[in-house]
Amino acid sequence: MSTTEALISAADAHSAHTYHPLPVVVATADGAWMTDVEGRRYLDLLAGYSALNFGHGNRRLIEAAKAQLERVTLTSRAFHHDRFAAFCTQLAELCGMEMVLPMNTGAEAVETAVKTARKWGYRVKGVPAEMAKIVVAGNNFHGRTTTLISFSTDPEARADYGPYTPGFEIVPYGDVTALRAAVSENTVAVLLEPIQGEAGVLVPPAGYLAAVREVTRERNVLFVADEVQSGLGRTGRTFACEHEGVVPDVYVLGKALGGGIVPVSAVVSSEAVLGVFRPGEHGSTFGGNPLACAVALEVIAMLRSGEFQERAAQLGEHLLRELGALAGTGRVAEVRGRGLWAGVDLARGYGTGREISEKLMDRGVLVKDTHGPTIRIAPPLVISREDLDWGLDQLRAVLGL
Ligand SMILES: Cc1ncc(COP(=O)(O)O)c(C=O)c1O
Repeated sequence: MSTTEALISAADAHSAHTYHPLPVVVATADGAWMTDVEGRRYLDLLAGYSALNFGHGNRRLIEAAKAQLERVTLTSRAFHHDRFAAFCTQLAELCGMEMVLPMNTGAEAVETAVKTARKWGYRVKGVPAEMAKIVVAGNNFHGRTTTLISFSTDPEARADYGPYTPGFEIVPYGDVTALRAAVSENTVAVLLEPIQGEAGVLVPPAGYLAAVREVTRERNVLFVADEVQSGLGRTGRTFACEHEGVVPDVYVLGKALGGGIVPVSAVVSSEAVLGVFRPGEHGSTFGGNPLACAVALEVIAMLRSGEFQERAAQLGEHLLRELGALAGTGRVAEVRGRGLWAGVDLARGYGTGREISEKLMDRGVLVKDTHGPTIRIAPPLVISREDLDWGLDQLRAVLGL
């Protein structure tokens, strides 16, 4: 038995089978490359679902983490610590907002946004007790908690976890008419991904986000943008909402905010919205801890330069052009994307996303399938153009081109 097989077999025996990973066991990583336990190298075209926007082992982030490890790592929110104010101030500034509520994972941050919207609805908007409604989109992915899967339309994510949390209405993604019709006087929020990542990088029709902004403003409803995956440089802008010149009421952030080192998430909004909380009404032992804040502060500083957004925009244009050309070959049915982020639907007869991912792995490229015929491509934003082109060559080869 090889080391790889032995490690996978031990993992299978002792971990719940909630994932179906590709059979590669990573030992080290640097930039856009990972090396497995047998010494084979792989180009990472997934980047931890965008948690690794700045690449593996990014020196600035590692140095920030190391320095903080030597100072103080956790205080809990029972006490103040000296990185917290800077983190909240600078993240709010990056978002053009006023207040931050820090959490750890993306799902926790979305849960926090749901609680925020409900509390705002009761305390500020004047919705009658227990009547708050949140409008969400079909094919959404916001995380795995009981409440979040309550409004999932993916049977795999949802089955056997009932009873489900009420108070959500699902409308088709991209359909403004349906959204407008679903909004009532008890609606406190519209919660959306500006681009649906897990659904296969679905970009909504042009004008959709702007229309959502208009409806929510007209009806005194919070527009909550879940930018956990789409945010922080991935699409060529700091936030995917910017592509339509839209500023939501609430940003939900995660993944890349922790620089691929620690889980860091946050709800960012105005004082009028996040000001609804009083001590004891929400919290987290680890949310906003000193190590998380130190890493996130470096992430924010890197994003402030605009360099990563620019890189994602330029390389992304190249990536989408090259992938678009594949659609003309008949082997790829559709390509969607924005910035350095693409969903590729394979044409019928050219394999499932999983089969193509396995073949790419054999050629030293790691991607992730989603929903049958689709693969997702989301390289670290630090990838070189040469490496990206090499990865695309491998995809062409796997497709027999
Ligand atoms: C848009 C979006 N929201 C929330 C989440 C949940 O994040 P986490 O896995 O950190 O809980 C994800 C994860 O993929 C996501 O893509």
